[in-house]
Amino acid sequence: MNEINKHIEWKKLGFKFFPTKYMFVATCSDGEWKTTGCVPFGNIEISPAAGVLNYGQGLFEGLKAYSGRDGHVYLFRPQKNADRIHNGCKRLCIPPLPQDLFMEAVTEVTKANKEFIPPYQEDSVAQGALYLRPVVWGTGPVLGVAPAPSYTFVTYACPVGPYFRSGFESIKLKITENYHRAASGGTGGVKAIGNYCIGMMPAKMAKSEGFQEILYLDAKDNKHIEEVGAANFFCIKGNKLYTPALDGCILPGVTRNSILHLAKNEFAMDVHEGSISVDDIFDCDEAFASGTAAVITPIGSISYQDKEIVMNNNEPGPISKKIYQKLLDIQHGIAEDKYNWRYVI
Ligand code: PLP
Ligand code: COI
Repeated sequence: MNEINKHIEWKKLGFKFFPTKYMFVATCSDGEWKTTGCVPFGNIEISPAAGVLNYGQGLFEGLKAYSGRDGHVYLFRPQKNADRIHNGCKRLCIPPLPQDLFMEAVTEVTKANKEFIPPYQEDSVAQGALYLRPVVWGTGPVLGVAPAPSYTFVTYACPVGPYFRSGFESIKLKITENYHRAASGGTGGVKAIGNYCIGMMPAKMAKSEGFQEILYLDAKDNKHIEEVGAANFFCIKGNKLYTPALDGCILPGVTRNSILHLAKNEFAMDVHEGSISVDDIFDCDEAFASGTAAVITPIGSISYQDKEIVMNNNEPGPISKKIYQKLLDIQHGIAEDKYNWRYVI
């Protein structure tokens, strides 16, 4: 143990900014990406006329480096994040970030900051990880609404604990009919930076009423479930697992995709990707939110209009627990890696 990690109280980490030593940088002008490599973490200087500052031309990713029980450090399916940001670039007119550049960034930043990777702990609820945050911005100056002339790609890292303070405990959600996260033809299906600030006001209002997050409905009919803030939504009835289909408004979560695989292939569940109306969730047995940050967070109750839907007595349900444990065991090098999801650093 060295000087730095002696002072980190791993079990007390939440999901907060925590500076580490190095970040990875690459830049792009005239459509060509060039690697700078790892540099000390610090501020960057950009023009006040930068495309990202004026028009929000930017995307981000989120993935974690895990300490395995076997002593290895693993990333979980990072190629999926590389593909997602590559596709997102096309939607935002950013020169598509090459997947091998993304892989180099996440690998190098994890190695350079290895003393910040939380150690493996037997208590899975307290499990921490090094959260990697790749971001790509239009940093060149632009005045008219148009793609920026140049771009910067940065990947930094922060050690984190659970996203919701409660860890693996049930959260309370509120459905709002007044605000939406995404609209058909918009950017809900990519990780555009502008998708996130629009949810801050509704989330703040929900938190002041004692809820942890908003459960969003579709913008057209105000009837179909979309996402839980920055996480995907799942519900369970008997042996059936339901999640909203990827219709362009839903982010294609890496955790979502992995859960669908596990439910079908490991637990012989009947898996449905489709539209889920608010009425459908009244009689479900369990529900949870999924994401890199949220992992699997059980949902205990959902408030809608003047009704409250309580799930499994406000306790994490048995199927959610089973899927959660399997996912964590794969991520931490405990379960067999049948699907080649672990990426050794
Ligand atoms: N939905 C939104 C809007 C998100 O921001 C995230 C987080 O990345 C997710 C879902 C979950 O995606 P993943 O499982 O890839 O982290
Ligand atoms: C993630 O799960 O990686 C996310 O992007 C959520 C984040 C916005 C905190």
